[in-house]
Amino acid sequence: ANAPVNVTITGAAGNIGYALLFRIASGALLGPDQRVNLRLLEIPPAVKAAEGTAMELFDSAFPTLGSIDIFDDPKKAFEGANIAFLVGSMPRKAGMERADLLSANGGIFGPQGEALNAGAAEDIKVLVVGNPANTNALIAASHAKDIPASRFTAMTRLDHNRALAQLAAKTGAHVSELDKVTVWGNHSTTQYPDLTHATVKGQAIPEILADRAWVEDDFIPTVAKRGAAIIEARGASSAASAASAAIDHVRDWCLGVKDYSWTSSSIMSEGQYGVPEGIISSFPCTCENGEWKVVEGLEIDDFSRARIDASAAELLDEKNAVASMGLI
Ligand code: NAI
Repeated sequence: ANAPVNVTITGAAGNIGYALLFRIASGALLGPDQRVNLRLLEIPPAVKAAEGTAMELFDSAFPTLGSIDIFDDPKKAFEGANIAFLVGSMPRKAGMERADLLSANGGIFGPQGEALNAGAAEDIKVLVVGNPANTNALIAASHAKDIPASRFTAMTRLDHNRALAQLAAKTGAHVSELDKVTVWGNHSTTQYPDLTHATVKGQAIPEILADRAWVEDDFIPTVAKRGAAIIEARGASSAASAASAAIDHVRDWCLGVKDYSWTSSSIMSEGQYGVPEGIISSFPCTCENGEWKVVEGLEIDDFSRARIDASAAELLDEKNAVASMGLI
C-alpha cells in the first residue's frame, strides 16, 4: 500500500468541515486504496467541537482513514501536509468594511502561508475555500516563499458545478453529457460562467447561445448569485455542495482531469487570456502530473472579453488593497 497522505483541514469544526471530513475519510478524495491522515486545525474555542467530529469519524471505522489529530497551532497542523484545505476564514458580514474584512483575513492567511512554508511536504497542494477565497489564496501564497505559487489555488469549482447543473436543467441533458463549461475570474458575483464553448453530448449549443435573454439575464446571474439563494432557502450557507466541489477540485488535481475536457480552477495567472499576471483567477484548466494547466487557444468574443476583464479588475483591486495594507 502507498504511504498515508496527510490532509490538513482548517475550520474543521465548521459547516463545510462537517461535510468535507467524512467524504475525505471515506475515500472520496483519493480512492479506496489510499489511506489518509486527517490533521484538523481550529481556533481554541472550536477545538472541543472538532473533538466531537473526530469522535464521529472514529466511530465510522472507515477503512481508508489512518489517524486524526487536532491542533490550534498552524505550525503543527501543517507539518508534513501533502494536501491542505483552507476552509476557516473571516467571510464578509453585513455592514463590514472591506478594509476590516481584508485585514482580518490577512491575520489568518499570512501566518498559515508561513506555517505551510515551514513545514508542509514537498508536494503540498493548497485549496483555499474560505472567502474571499481568491485573495486569501494570494495572501497565503505570498507568505510561502519556498513553495511554488502554482501550489496555491482557490475554489471556483462550486460555481463550475452550479453552471453545469443549470445547463443540464435547461437542456434536459445529464450533467455527465455536458462539457467545456468555464467559470472565469473571482469567486464573487463578478465571476463569469461562460457557455461559449460548451457542448451537450458533444454538440455545440447554438440555439441556447442565441437565446441571449436566457444566457445573460437567467443563467449568468443564477450561477453567480446561487450562494445567496441557498442562504435564503436553507437559512445557512452552502456546505455539502461546497465540500463536494472541494473534493472534486483536489481529486482532479491529484488524479487528473478525466471524463471531461476541462474544469474551472482559480490559479495564479501568468497573463493568460489577458488576465493580469500575479492574481489568482479562475480559468478553464486541465491537470497533468499534479500541475494545473490553463487550456490555451479558446476564442474569446466581445461579451466574454468584457466579463473576464471586469472580474480580473475586481481581483486586481483586491490585490492592490491587501498590498497597500502590507498583507502581501
Ligand atoms: P463556518 O462558520 O461554519 O465554519 C468556519 C470555521 O472556521 C469555524 O469552525 C471557525 O472556528 C473556523 N476558523 C475561523 N478562523 C480560523 C482560523 N484562523 N484557523 C482555523 N479555523 C478557523 O463556515 P462554513 O460554512 O464552514 O464556511 C467556511 C468558509 O467557506 C466561509 O468563508 C465561506 O464564506 C466559504 N465558502 C466558500 C465557498 C466557495 O465556493 N469558495 C462556498 C461556500 C462557502
